[in-house]
Amino acid sequence: MKALVLSGGSGTRLRPFTLTSPKQLVPVANKPVLYYVLEAIAEAGITEVGIVVGDTADDIRAAVGDGSRFGLDVTYLRQEAPLGLAHAVLIAREFLGEDDFVMYLGDNFIVGGITSLVEEFAAERPDARILLTRVSDPTAFGVAELDTDGQVVGLEEKPEKPKSDLALVGVYLFGAAVHDAVRAIRPSDRGELEITDAIQWLIDGGHDVRSTVISGYWKDTGNVQDMLEVNRSVLEGLEARNDGTVDAGSELIGRVRVEAGARVCGSRVVGPAVIGAGTVISDSYVGPYTSIGENCLVEDTEIEFSIVLGESRLDGVRRVQASLIGRNVSVTPAPRTPAAHQLIVGDYSKVQIFS
Ligand code: DAU
Repeated sequence: MKALVLSGGSGTRLRPFTLTSPKQLVPVANKPVLYYVLEAIAEAGITEVGIVVGDTADDIRAAVGDGSRFGLDVTYLRQEAPLGLAHAVLIAREFLGEDDFVMYLGDNFIVGGITSLVEEFAAERPDARILLTRVSDPTAFGVAELDTDGQVVGLEEKPEKPKSDLALVGVYLFGAAVHDAVRAIRPSDRGELEITDAIQWLIDGGHDVRSTVISGYWKDTGNVQDMLEVNRSVLEGLEARNDGTVDAGSELIGRVRVEAGARVCGSRVVGPAVIGAGTVISDSYVGPYTSIGENCLVEDTEIEFSIVLGESRLDGVRRVQASLIGRNVSVTPAPRTPAAHQLIVGDYSKVQIFS
């Protein structure tokens, strides 16, 4: 069994964190979403991984390298333009050969990994297995229609009038028959070769397509609340660990991870929380469900239930909560003081607030 990870796309969407880095590298608890994908693949016992890359190939290569640190053997597959998920399968033909494979969208996050799905697929070997999850807004996803026996009968990509609330999750298991499907279909109205159309082709041709409904799913939709929530749920599973330095005037309470080279001085950190490598927390309070990225400076500040990306500085600000703060951001006080601030700030921004 092989894995095909899709990390292409044009990287042009303007979301808080995808302005300057690919969405597959958006961090959850200080770790890019793509790393969770690769770890789940390795855990499932798969070693041969093709990563489809596009315009942001250099960033993805810099983050993943040859894959050895995940125990993987990574081959990069260049897709000239984001012509669709089925197009990615088309260009991976030679890499995949006749092997079964799991196709994993690099911006998707599934709680609990894929090991049992992969084992089940290897034992049963249907032509395809798709994963579904119930969502509140199916129009943003591929949507499946099931018959009364729970058998998939129809798939539609981002329908205006969805036939169910069962969205396609970005993990698909395929046998070699999918190669005929991706060759047979034509581009959709939005000009992409849709994997939903390829799966529909399999269904219409009488192939064995099965589905599994899962819970615990997240993808980067640019929704701030969702992002804080996935960060919170990952931090819930954090183990306390101190690889940095914490001075006698500081207190770490609960599950706090202090990464290598980080320094905590005169501060109180209440877990679950992670303090990134090289970051300095000084005379501050860092509250639960907070991820502070690498090489940040948090001084004379109170922050909780928030995400701060690398190289950012918060100085003299209280209190920050339910906030997303990008890379290289500077947040400093302005003359007057309101009670609380909620910040949704893109990378490289500079923000001045009253504090
Ligand atoms: O996330 C689940 C959804 O993913 C499914 O419900 C939809 O049926 C499926 O079409 C897909 O929809 P998105 O519009 O969210 O796909 P997106 O364009 O965001 O691409 C998903 C990932 O695949 C992302 O990591 C970029 C990568 N990609 C995308 C395209 C179109 C490629 O590598 N090459 C491509 O050509």
